Amino acid sequence: GLEAGKLLKETGHVTLDVGFVNTAACSSAITYIDGDAGVLRYRGYPIDELAEHASFLETSYLLIYGELPTQDELAAFDERIRRHTLLHEDLTGFFSGFPRDAHPMAVLSSAVSALSTFYQDSLDPFDPEQVEISTVRLLAKVPTIAAYAYKKSIGQPFLYPDNRLDLTENFLRLTFGVPPEPYEPDPAMVRALDMLFVLHADHEQNCSTSTVRLVGSSNANMFASVSAGINALFGPLHGGANEAVLQMLGRIQAEGGDVDAFVRRVKDKEPGVKLMGFGHRVYKNYDPRAAIVKRTADEVLGKLGAQDQLLDIAMRLEEVALADDYFVSRKLYPNVDFYTGLIYKAMGFPPKMFTVLFALGRLPGWIAQWREMINDPATKIGRPRQVYVGETERHVTAIGER
Ligand code: ACO
Repeated sequence: GLEAGKLLKETGHVTLDVGFVNTAACSSAITYIDGDAGVLRYRGYPIDELAEHASFLETSYLLIYGELPTQDELAAFDERIRRHTLLHEDLTGFFSGFPRDAHPMAVLSSAVSALSTFYQDSLDPFDPEQVEISTVRLLAKVPTIAAYAYKKSIGQPFLYPDNRLDLTENFLRLTFGVPPEPYEPDPAMVRALDMLFVLHADHEQNCSTSTVRLVGSSNANMFASVSAGINALFGPLHGGANEAVLQMLGRIQAEGGDVDAFVRRVKDKEPGVKLMGFGHRVYKNYDPRAAIVKRTADEVLGKLGAQDQLLDIAMRLEEVALADDYFVSRKLYPNVDFYTGLIYKAMGFPPKMFTVLFALGRLPGWIAQWREMINDPATKIGRPRQVYVGETERHVTAIGER
């Protein structure tokens, strides 16, 4: 930032970098990616070790506070979050105002934005106590909001959170529970979903995280910043890709399952036809998260006894693409969301909820990045420059003479 500022002062030049392909907007100690080697680490820990040994809650603690928690630290963190899962009854009322077919991502971002209206305890959004309580409220309440967005879409009544359950179990019960029947999720499903949340928990300066930082750089509060991040995640080129992958696989199946024909259309760059779930701005080698997800898809679908022809289509698509020069020369590999939709589908989530699940996973990353930003003395309000290409000066003629 300093270098760019100096360049501008000394030469009057700005750098044009559409899409920020090569421009860093901050320094960060949270997540490391080596896109060429396919490496991803949170706070130095490799993603595969975290996926195997750490829960989503431990990973959230790690991202936000910088270290893996001890058992006592984790228990205290867990306890605080469990005590904040309930939504204010007036906030619950908001859901009835949305149309039933509203996309749950739109409902989620609206309700998270509305949290700002309920929690205005401090005028200073950077007051450390306020930051701490906002962190806990978001981690605790966003899963409840997400589950209510789903319940609303299928016309079922909302359940109150059951704070004997952990974060992921609670979310699953709020989503799929239908009282008075007891809800007992398959432990393999709980573990798989928790692990998928770990894989999504942070990914340095992606579109939604950069949005959270940009909004927060104006000193907007954490709820407003995270709500903006959710909206950025909504798009199919970012978090919306997991939903788009399933639509693509379904279309291929409906058209007879001809994977080669579909790949030809992608290579011919037919308008609107892309291999969704493939490609990444940073990974130019296999996305390490995708490798873990692919293994999980096989396991979970096996355990849940879900035979899915779409998994066969996905695997054939990957095989065909990885042997094709179009994809190889462009370094296009499956990204994290190529296989996640199939797992979510086997768990019983409708495609519209897939991106919401991504948001639940990414939440601790957004919070950690927002907190890092406000504590970094180098932070300034985000304000990109532009290269003006419009008209040069011209003069106004009165309307009757135009
Ligand atoms: N299918 C077909 N061709 C592709 C794909 C794809 N999925 N992705 C990139 N390409 C091609 C582009 O057409 C371009 O080819 P060209 O040089 O002949 O024009 C080349 O590969 C480079 O692509 P860019 O668009 O420059 O790559 P960029 O870094 O801007 O985009 C992105 C990355 C948005 C992820 C892109 O690969 C894409 O649209 N993928 C599909 C959507 C997707 O899966 N998004 C999820 C991303 S990961 C995440 O958010 C979790």
